[in-house]
Amino acid sequence: MSKATKYFKHLNYSLANEDTTLELRLCQQHKPKHILSICGSGGRFLPLFAAQPTSLVALDLAEQQLHLAEMREESMRKLSFNDFLAFWGYPPYAPGVMTRERRTWFSSFQLSDGAREYCAELLQRHRWHGLIYAGKWERTFIGVAKVIKHLIGDRYDEIFAFDQVQSQQDYFDEKLANNRWKFVPRLVLRIFGNAAFFNAVLYKGHFVRKNIDEGYYDFYRQAFRRVFANGLTRHNFFLQLCFLGVLRFPEGNPVEADPAVYALVQAALRQGQPTKRVQSDLLAYAASATERFDFVSLSDVPSYFSGDTERTYLQQLKVCLNPGALCVVRCYLRVPEGTDLSGFRDVTADYAALIAAEKTQVYRIFIYQYMGLS
Ligand SMILES: C[S@@+](CC[C@H](N)C(=O)[O-])C[C@H]1O[C@@H](n2cnc3c(N)ncnc32)[C@H](O)[C@@H]1O
Repeated sequence: MSKATKYFKHLNYSLANEDTTLELRLCQQHKPKHILSICGSGGRFLPLFAAQPTSLVALDLAEQQLHLAEMREESMRKLSFNDFLAFWGYPPYAPGVMTRERRTWFSSFQLSDGAREYCAELLQRHRWHGLIYAGKWERTFIGVAKVIKHLIGDRYDEIFAFDQVQSQQDYFDEKLANNRWKFVPRLVLRIFGNAAFFNAVLYKGHFVRKNIDEGYYDFYRQAFRRVFANGLTRHNFFLQLCFLGVLRFPEGNPVEADPAVYALVQAALRQGQPTKRVQSDLLAYAASATERFDFVSLSDVPSYFSGDTERTYLQQLKVCLNPGALCVVRCYLRVPEGTDLSGFRDVTADYAALIAAEKTQVYRIFIYQYMGLS
């Protein structure tokens, strides 16, 4: 069992640590018929239904992720938008409210035996609260926010006070020139940039081996700088999670909880658009797939590859791609080395504006187009 395989065998993700708006906008522009996506919480592939593909296959090594995604999909099919927010604990609903309704909704869901058993146990363990914070990754980030609050109080709450970009910008210009405030971001960045902490708490020694030039501290400093300059803070779920330890502002909910996107996804699911959720390694699936895909959303799975695999993974994917297919790779701390791009065109620069608008800014994102030549 590889190190990554050992790490990815729990419920690690229940919300989102990627802003899937990027992949959704790409799909809305390119209108892929067949999509292959890494599953995660489900929140990273279900919004892609808003681009009306003919079929969507979601893969994950962890059956827990697939079970949670099955319930997410069923909740999107069955529930009104507001009930969906309440079921998962998205603002304006706190996760601890409407526990009776949540039980009723859950019992109305049609789920496979495995998903029903797993999700029932998970909901019970969480006292029938909404589950957006149930993943290990989300719990770790909430833990970091608690440490920050303990060390420096509620001072960060005020960064979410703005509803005008200009007043927010004026505030940051003033605060960042203030010596007392300079100390605070440094302390916060020390916590986020502490690889040893994440490795111990979250990844149990299976953290990706960083190969980007910046140190962890500089990496997070640059990422937060980009995020703070990138629209209103209260529109950003990732910042809320990092600094408040909770989602407080509905206007910052991730893209699956955007009402217009939700309506499109629900319509597609109710029309019976087929989804397949498969427990499989990405490259093993590609090798035996009968489908041919037009869009592949790889999350940061390639960051966990090494050796021959990091060099050949795109070549291995070719067998299941249609000419023109786009592959979106998110690299977190580690960019695969020596990747053989033959047959692909690097079209990343064409989407610079979409990439700059991504809300977490912790990924180096690459977009490759398969030319179908070899
Ligand atoms: C790659 S993780 C996202 C990781 C996250 N951005 C981070 O590094 O903290 C997303 C999902 O990919 C799954 N996964 C990891 N490696 C995989 C592989 N080789 N094939 C299929 N799924 C995989 C994991 O189980 C997880 O649910």
